Amino acid sequence: MTQFKISDYETIKNAMVNRDLKQALYDEGKVIMDGVLLTLHGEEHHKRRKLEHKVFQRDYFKYYEQELFPKTLDETIDPFLKSKKADLIDFGYRITMNLTADFAGIDRTQKTPNETNKLLTLVKKFSEGATLVHSKRDKSIVEKEVLDALDVFEIDFLKPSIEKRMKLISAYNNSEIKKDQLPRDVLTVLLMNEDDININDDIIKKEIAFYLQAGSHSTANSMTHAFHEIANWINNDKQKFNKIKNDPIFLQKCVHESMRLHPASPVAWRKPTCPVKIEKNTHLKEDDLLVMDLYTANRDVGIFGEDANSFNPDRELKSQQNLWGLTFGIGLHMCFGRDLDGGVSPNQETDPSKHQYGVVTLLIKKLFEHNVQRDPKNKPERDIKTERPNWGKYPVIFGEKK
Ligand code: HEM
Repeated sequence: MTQFKISDYETIKNAMVNRDLKQALYDEGKVIMDGVLLTLHGEEHHKRRKLEHKVFQRDYFKYYEQELFPKTLDETIDPFLKSKKADLIDFGYRITMNLTADFAGIDRTQKTPNETNKLLTLVKKFSEGATLVHSKRDKSIVEKEVLDALDVFEIDFLKPSIEKRMKLISAYNNSEIKKDQLPRDVLTVLLMNEDDININDDIIKKEIAFYLQAGSHSTANSMTHAFHEIANWINNDKQKFNKIKNDPIFLQKCVHESMRLHPASPVAWRKPTCPVKIEKNTHLKEDDLLVMDLYTANRDVGIFGEDANSFNPDRELKSQQNLWGLTFGIGLHMCFGRDLDGGVSPNQETDPSKHQYGVVTLLIKKLFEHNVQRDPKNKPERDIKTERPNWGKYPVIFGEKK
């Protein structure tokens, strides 16, 4: 087996749309990732993606962002504002936990902090299992912890959520309710299985656990990186601070710029299903591994300019590239949460009052509305449990709302 590492932006783009390359990053995380959408290939992946795509439509994201999300955000941030401080990682996980649970189809019936804590602890364990390849802990211990967490998740959260949905689906089948009265989430879509694809109870359990961790981990980290970059950029400059507070379209650009610099997964891995040619002189055989360095590609000076390594929210791109680069992937496995988290890119005609900003921008906007600052007495720290360049804690304080 030979390992090939590529970091050229265009070469990675071509590899990501190549149907002869299959997902390989989660081979070590099989305990939780085996058989889930992100690890499927070919026809099986296509069918599952088509079925689940019913949930991830742009009109629903807009409705979610403008109608449902503000309430969840207020409820979640309120206790932090009262205590005038927060750890951004903790806050990020709490808010995105609710967001991804809504999309995955996991009910939080008690709506207590205790219940959120319980789900959060389970989902963090699922995350650790999925990214086992980058873990610095004993892998067999992590695997055992993940299996235990899956058991608890099944009994406490999944079963009640399935039971509720099965009753509703049965009412729909008996014409007692209309289709739009069914929950709009992945669990409902899988239980109804209108396309009659090959799934079973174990796949459903892993798929829902995958959704919970995929959405929450990446969103929480993305928000914290964005805050860090923006706070550095403001650097006590009152004018810049006001621009962040008063110009949400500019704020969204800042978030996209930070997403480019800090892709949730710094690499993507693929394995060929047959001999594949990647670049002029790179020929891969079936046993080889292709490591795509998204972190470096997103800093390609040919695409993003001479200052590609730094945070520049005024960056203008000549080509049709997305400001966030390859952060959400492209092609076969392109992220389902892209528009939900990143929103839609604005253009000259965009009306700021109707624009879809994406959840990460809305989170940062809310923080700045409450005059968030780094806690001067408590420094942020990197996450030492993983090789991924994430924050482990990020303490902030809030001022008066102005
Ligand atoms: C800033 C936040 C996020 C980032 C940076 C991100 C990044 C990514 C990337 C890079 C991939 C493709 C991986 C590959 O090609 O190997 C992916 C796939 C995926 N993401 Fe996200 N993600 C984010 C948020 C979300 C959210 C909120 C959800 C769901 C609510 C979500 C659901 C998915 C799903 C289902 C896939 C698999 C698609 C497939 O395999 O066909 N993501 N994400």
